[in-house]
Amino acid sequence: MFPLRFGSSDDFEQVRDFLTGAGFAPEPLCRTAGVGKLYEVLGGRGRVEGADRESRLGLLARLYVLGESVPKAEWDAAIPGAITEAMGRLGLLDKDPSAAGRLLSPVMLAPCEGVLLVSDRHCAPGGGPYQAPADAVYPAITKATGEFLRLLPRTPCDRLLDLCAGTGVAALSAAASGVARQAWAADVLARAAHFARFNARLNGLENFHAVEGDLYEPVEGLEFDRIVAHPPYVPALRSKWTFRDAGEAGEAISHGVVAGAPKVLAPGGRLYCLTTGLDLNEKSFERRAREWLGGEAEAFDLLFVEIDTFPPEALASSLAFRGQRSPEEARELLRRFEQAGVRSFCHGMLVVEKHADSSRPPFLNRCVAGPRTGPAEIAWMMEWLGRSAAPGFERVLLESRYRTSPQCRMTSEHAFEREGVAVTGITVSTDYPFRAESGIQPWTAQVLAECTQPRTGRQIYEFCRREGLIHERIGPAEFTALLRSLAGSGFLEAEGFKPPAAEG
Ligand SMILES: C[S@@+](CC[C@H](N)C(=O)[O-])C[C@H]1O[C@@H](n2cnc3c(N)ncnc32)[C@H](O)[C@@H]1O
Repeated sequence: MFPLRFGSSDDFEQVRDFLTGAGFAPEPLCRTAGVGKLYEVLGGRGRVEGADRESRLGLLARLYVLGESVPKAEWDAAIPGAITEAMGRLGLLDKDPSAAGRLLSPVMLAPCEGVLLVSDRHCAPGGGPYQAPADAVYPAITKATGEFLRLLPRTPCDRLLDLCAGTGVAALSAAASGVARQAWAADVLARAAHFARFNARLNGLENFHAVEGDLYEPVEGLEFDRIVAHPPYVPALRSKWTFRDAGEAGEAISHGVVAGAPKVLAPGGRLYCLTTGLDLNEKSFERRAREWLGGEAEAFDLLFVEIDTFPPEALASSLAFRGQRSPEEARELLRRFEQAGVRSFCHGMLVVEKHADSSRPPFLNRCVAGPRTGPAEIAWMMEWLGRSAAPGFERVLLESRYRTSPQCRMTSEHAFEREGVAVTGITVSTDYPFRAESGIQPWTAQVLAECTQPRTGRQIYEFCRREGLIHERIGPAEFTALLRSLAGSGFLEAEGFKPPAAEG
């Protein structure tokens, strides 16, 4: 028996309007609970103090966000009776069985990305130890979900599938904001589909469908122009929670998400999957992910936006230190990582596009997210890589105008030698639109200095020839490799194709 009841539309509407009117939104709740970000409450932080404890928002924060049980008398004094009754009919309010005269909520309820979301409780009502059920519905206010949502595109799409949806947060917020005309949330857990359906009613959304089943099985026969997925990716020898554990490498579900995409992605459609993968000694994660696409890999572009990498030892010890695995299990996992030739774990957003343009070869790339990398920068990079792979791009590169990016930094290393001081190395770096760092030759530094004033590719080529910076055998077409690399890394900005923030 799942918690929550599907009351009347009127009940849902009353509760929604009341919560909105009471300021049940992230910033006021953070202020009331004394936390900087809502996800901090999941770590046991947050407390409503003083007079706020008996205020309307204070009581809502205590009951639904912090998971406390609250005195019925305080509740009745602050919350209208009709709302209490509607909440009761929806299964959002119960008597606390362990304390007379107190109320509790069987679920957690929190605002996130413009929608109200119920998920499973994160703590016992009275503090104390708490064990979530194996099919617990993952709360959407976590740091990881925040990262997932932050990197998703805000551009409109027609049919969006949120795979491994949990509360359905990505589909619900896309449906509510108008990003998706129609949105589906699919999850293997019946409990998650039940919660997502409830969330759609609570937010009054009709362009939303919650389905239940393994990966793409419940949407067989449908096609989507956008798929978003935040699957479980924590390595485990035995699964405890469906939302977290994903086989001994942590890739079991992500593999299925990628492998099943060719069947349901519309031409030109994209999959965005936030996951952690393995870089093996002999093969990078993105190359392996491309193989998961199977025989159709040639029809797909793939970009991995790396957020973080960490060695296997760091992952194993963090699992043990955070109590997610016993020390024995962590040691055994590490042994298996070593056996499998794992060089590192990499965490980030995998973007896969079924490219609609068959006149060019597919691309496969990795870039590293910087502090200001968001969906617009990812879209920019996909566009750049697609254009770069198209035939005849050398001509475009030669005719384009470039300017050295104001974000580009250059450092040089010197050594003291008998004749004086010598430059022993030059490095350029940027953190926008992505993080990039590269050792360069002094002549490339001269190119970047020359481009502080706008220059076309051809002018840069001629400058290099004139100054004797490149061998005379190097023709303009060959020279474009340098322009492609400098512009693709963000060291040079190509006019008409500047990264989003530079456009402003
Ligand atoms: C980390 S949670 C993410 C939930 C939600 N997308 C979010 O970001 O808050 C992973 C979700 O994947 C679901 N899941 C695990 N295995 C699955 C499978 N084989 N097919 C579909 N969903 C699955 C879990 O039930 C869980 O809801």
